[in-house]
Amino acid sequence: MTKETVEDLRRTSLASVEAAATIEELDNARRELLGKKGSLTQILKGLGGVDPELRKELGSLVNQLKGELDGAIELRRKALSSAKLDQALEREWIDVSLPVHSRIALADNGGLHPLTRVQRELEHIFRGLGFTVVDGPEVETDYCNFEALNIPDTHPARDMQDTFFTTCGHLLRTHTSSIQVRSLQRMKPPLRIVAPGRCFRYERLDASHEHTFYQMEGMMIDRHVTVGHLIYFMRTLLREIFGGEQKIRLRPGYFPFVEPGFELDIWFQGRWLELLPCGLVHPKVLEFGGIDSSEWNGFAFGLGLSRLVMSRFQIDDIRHLQSGDLRFAKQFR
Ligand code: DAH
Repeated sequence: MTKETVEDLRRTSLASVEAAATIEELDNARRELLGKKGSLTQILKGLGGVDPELRKELGSLVNQLKGELDGAIELRRKALSSAKLDQALEREWIDVSLPVHSRIALADNGGLHPLTRVQRELEHIFRGLGFTVVDGPEVETDYCNFEALNIPDTHPARDMQDTFFTTCGHLLRTHTSSIQVRSLQRMKPPLRIVAPGRCFRYERLDASHEHTFYQMEGMMIDRHVTVGHLIYFMRTLLREIFGGEQKIRLRPGYFPFVEPGFELDIWFQGRWLELLPCGLVHPKVLEFGGIDSSEWNGFAFGLGLSRLVMSRFQIDDIRHLQSGDLRFAKQFR
């Protein structure tokens, strides 16, 4: 063993540390140099058989090299791990650990539209009562929107003046009651559904009439359902919405798809507010849906979501709801 041996090792070992491209490669290089069978370790072991004079000189050279290598390896490790972090930051540029200023977050993220808020609230209440939330298409067939709901040809809703028809013979649903038909066709009784959604009518627009508005349909089909069940569920609903027992009344109301049919009014701010048409599902509707009306019956209701939101938040013009005006929307965050 000579000074050259140590000198050679210095060159190759420093080069191999420098060449390590990842932390793993660096660890390997370290093992090959300083591990039990590493080249530097071998040299240290070999010193025992060297002439004492030379051993002293080589010994201090080898120790110096070991110190140098330790330093170089540490330096390389730091460089590699910060490169690794840089790469990770490049890939994962969303830092979920970054604290967000809550006021900025509010301004940037916006809030829920009052309609969405009330809709979700109602869905939550009905889920608690065993109802399933279902959906239906906004472009409907004449069959689901009218015919299977026992709405006769002569009914004014079937007039061009009230309904948007498409050129291919369909229409924009005028109410969410069409989802009653679709649910009866698809689900087996007993069933409980609510179906929120947009409805469309060809209206003369003013503060209380809009071409696009929201309803939430409800229907429960079971055995021996009575008006008592209907009243129970409607009372429960109103208690949840308004936070306490409400004074209500039922008046007779005509809708071709219920028999008997009612208008449910609620005493609100000193006057009766027409809130919720409802009734017992007409046997013909059940039959249209392929359900045996001698075994099953049920109730249905059509909640005017837009109307409810307006009275809840004291909105005086229905057109605000669809205006897309941020000055309006921001009041409800
Ligand atoms: N679909 C009716 C409308 O838009 C409202 C309605 C009345 C729904 C009675 C019902 C019901 O489910 O039972 O005018």
